[in-house]
Amino acid sequence: MAGLDRIKKKRTIGLDEIPCLCTPRNPAPRDICSSGRFFYPKIEPWRLYFFACQSKADLACLEGNWYLHMRLPGLIDPHVHLREPGATHKEDWASGTAAALAGGFTAVLAMPNTQPSITDRETFTQAAKAATFKARCDYAQYLGAGPENAARAAKLAPQAAGLKMYLDQTYGQLRLDDMVLWMAHFAAWPPHLPIVAHAESRTLAAVILLAALYDRSVHLAHVSRREEILLIRAAKEKGLKVTCEVAPHHLLLTNEDIPSLGTGRSQVRPHLASTGDQQALWDNLEVIDCFATDHAPHTLAEKDGSDPPPGYPGLETALPLLLNAVHAGRLSLEDLIARMHTNPRRIFHLPVQPDTWTEVDPEARWAIRAEHLFSRCGWTPFEGWQVRGKVLRVVLRGQEVYREGQILAEPGYGKNLRTEYASSRDIS
Ligand code: DOR
Ligand code: ZN
Repeated sequence: MAGLDRIKKKRTIGLDEIPCLCTPRNPAPRDICSSGRFFYPKIEPWRLYFFACQSKADLACLEGNWYLHMRLPGLIDPHVHLREPGATHKEDWASGTAAALAGGFTAVLAMPNTQPSITDRETFTQAAKAATFKARCDYAQYLGAGPENAARAAKLAPQAAGLKMYLDQTYGQLRLDDMVLWMAHFAAWPPHLPIVAHAESRTLAAVILLAALYDRSVHLAHVSRREEILLIRAAKEKGLKVTCEVAPHHLLLTNEDIPSLGTGRSQVRPHLASTGDQQALWDNLEVIDCFATDHAPHTLAEKDGSDPPPGYPGLETALPLLLNAVHAGRLSLEDLIARMHTNPRRIFHLPVQPDTWTEVDPEARWAIRAEHLFSRCGWTPFEGWQVRGKVLRVVLRGQEVYREGQILAEPGYGKNLRTEYASSRDIS
């Protein structure tokens, strides 16, 4: 917050004022990097990011106004649906990873509830091949837990983002009801590799019990209710190896928004919850390890049709909405960076992406409009929302991959985080 306050006062500044950015306690030397930008290494020594000013040339374009932008680490989304194979009219690896870059994400972990579901070597290879040719940001692919694939899935575990277990009703064919089947997966999946569960309410209690019985970790997807976050708090306090994520839409929308969203468009799993549930998420922020978008694109025609599928797109709106929440004083920048970079990297054992960052203008005010989004689905539940905080530029492995509305990475630039990095266990 201190950083943002400082930056607010310096929205429009002249060249001569720039040294004021360095506090007496932390006199940061001015540096000019290879691209001709002036960089001011961090204002607070403990921060991961620092502030940068546009070059003189850029200054002219901005009609004499310097504007400040802030560097965040490349964001990681551990929960996206990219719809390939099988439903590429909703999204594919190229469009979904374009949306990721536009939203400031440099790595995504893709869910297996595609058509067909990704549950064996054949389907896993099919998805991996599409990703190799089409992904624009780095990625890994989950395997889905089915009724009979525990042993076969476990063999592929080192190449997968993790094992996804669908234990409650949602989109796709992968739901597992029988707890004996859950046990087969908990027994077979390597203990050091991630299991992610879609488990709501009492199902969540049941899967936490399994994690305790098998003495292994479990990551709980899109937690949305008070009873869930309190149960996770209690499990963590007991020392169980439980982590969790919350989606921006559950932090920012409730069932009171259903009338304005419309019945079809508001469909999502877990459902939008009560304001009490929403407040409990904010009140237990320290229990939330990650913010994950659960980017689940379905077309507007499908959402407005007679059998609307559940899910919202989220990759392009998450960071602006959460920066907005930083401005509103609901969380700090450190909270955001921990949940969108540091913790996902640790929980999912992801390698360091070298020379990778996301630059934002934390002050820019703009309105979210579906027409500007790269996702193929063509709508957003946040249509018209006024936000403060915008992604300006994304650099991935030394290459500029996004700049002010333009995707600069070609399909195929993305690397598989599990198989194409020298050290996939580098979690320093
Ligand atoms: O709303 C949802 N949509 N929740 C899920 O768990 C799955 C997702 C999808 O794939 O559309
Ligand atoms: Zn999902």
